Amino acid sequence: MSPTPPHKSLELLREKEMLHEFIRTSTEYIFSIDFSPPVSTRGSVDELVERMFRNGRFGFVNERFARGLGLALEDLIGRPCTAYFKQQANQEVIEALVQSGFSLFDFESVGLVDGEEFYLLNNMVGTVENGYLLRLFGTARDITAQKQADSENIRQREQLMHMNRIGSLGQMASSVAHELNQPLTAIRLNAGAVKMMQDKGIDDPGETLAIMDDILADVSRAGEVIQQMRDLYIGRVHSAGRYDLGTIIANALRLLNSELLVGNIRLVREHDGSSLGIEANEIQIQQLLINLIMNACAALRSMDSVKNLTVRTRREDSRIILEIRDNGPGFPQEDPETAFLPFVTTREDGSGMGLSICRTIIEAHHGTIGARNAEHGGALVTVVLPAIEGP
Ligand SMILES: Nc1ncnc2c1ncn2[C@@H]1O[C@H](COP(=O)(O)OP(=O)(O)OP(=O)(O)O)[C@@H](O)[C@H]1O
Ligand SMILES: [Mg+2]
Repeated sequence: MSPTPPHKSLELLREKEMLHEFIRTSTEYIFSIDFSPPVSTRGSVDELVERMFRNGRFGFVNERFARGLGLALEDLIGRPCTAYFKQQANQEVIEALVQSGFSLFDFESVGLVDGEEFYLLNNMVGTVENGYLLRLFGTARDITAQKQADSENIRQREQLMHMNRIGSLGQMASSVAHELNQPLTAIRLNAGAVKMMQDKGIDDPGETLAIMDDILADVSRAGEVIQQMRDLYIGRVHSAGRYDLGTIIANALRLLNSELLVGNIRLVREHDGSSLGIEANEIQIQQLLINLIMNACAALRSMDSVKNLTVRTRREDSRIILEIRDNGPGFPQEDPETAFLPFVTTREDGSGMGLSICRTIIEAHHGTIGARNAEHGGALVTVVLPAIEGP
């Protein structure tokens, strides 16, 4: 090989100096660790990490690196590498490095210096010869500010979502009032029936007891409803269990039996036999069904012809589909989607909360709810919920 011409070696020297200057003033942590004696890469990760900590010493570090550790540059060179990895709780980086086969890129880690958390984005490459690790080169970037900005964004987004859910205190109060209406009406009717029996001197202890049982059941349901609404509005993860949607529907229909009878409404229950397992809060899904069926009953009230209410369920892959359809006048809104907004109502006695509550419930269950007018008239509400395996 011919010797490098003098002007070339000068150029190389200058380039080397520039490189040094660049590394020295870089805002990234830059360092190398020499392993002496070289570390065998065989054995378990734990053993290897331990050997690296024992034999590794800083060969080179830049100013940023030393500052990040709160140490003087000259104090670091030749020092055991544990000064970096242990002190900063960054042992995980070494483990990830070993697992990556000594070429680790874009690995995030959390460090702790003087009780302050900071985040690093690490890159490291090792020189391995004949199964022995000789040297390690690393750079790390402090991404704490970026992380903090991200978490602030997330926090703001969560707060916004929460505010959206709450809407306003008035909305929550209206929701509770709305949901209590049904059990309270049932309690009033039942209590009235007992009083009427007394007034008329009808002595039927069995019947009285049965009515009292109904009243007690409704009172405890009212209590549960308040609890559920509160959970829903404070954004707490609802306590969910595994349920068969068919059973929840049957229970809700039982509660609304007299409503359907009085309204002269013919109920059609359609189910294709598929399993309807959902992960759900039973009370909330029951509330949803009551709201949707009560809406259909209200819409059918004005109709002279045969009044039909169809509740159809089926499973499609990993989704359960529930359709509630009536043959009433259909949604009067130009875009039925607007009916889901709180306080939107066309009914004299309506509060406009029913569908808004339904949507909040379904979103808490990671599902969707939509409304439209069916092809042959009437309103159609479709609810889609994630299915679970089994019954
Ligand atoms: N099955 C339906 N058929 C026709 N219109 C409907 C039906 N369901 C809902 N709507 C329309 O959507 C509006 C909003 O319904 P929502 O349940 O939110 O409130 P509401 O029934 O008016 O009052 P409430 O708060 O007492 O439930 C209704 O006022 C009505 O205009
Ligand atoms: Mg309603």
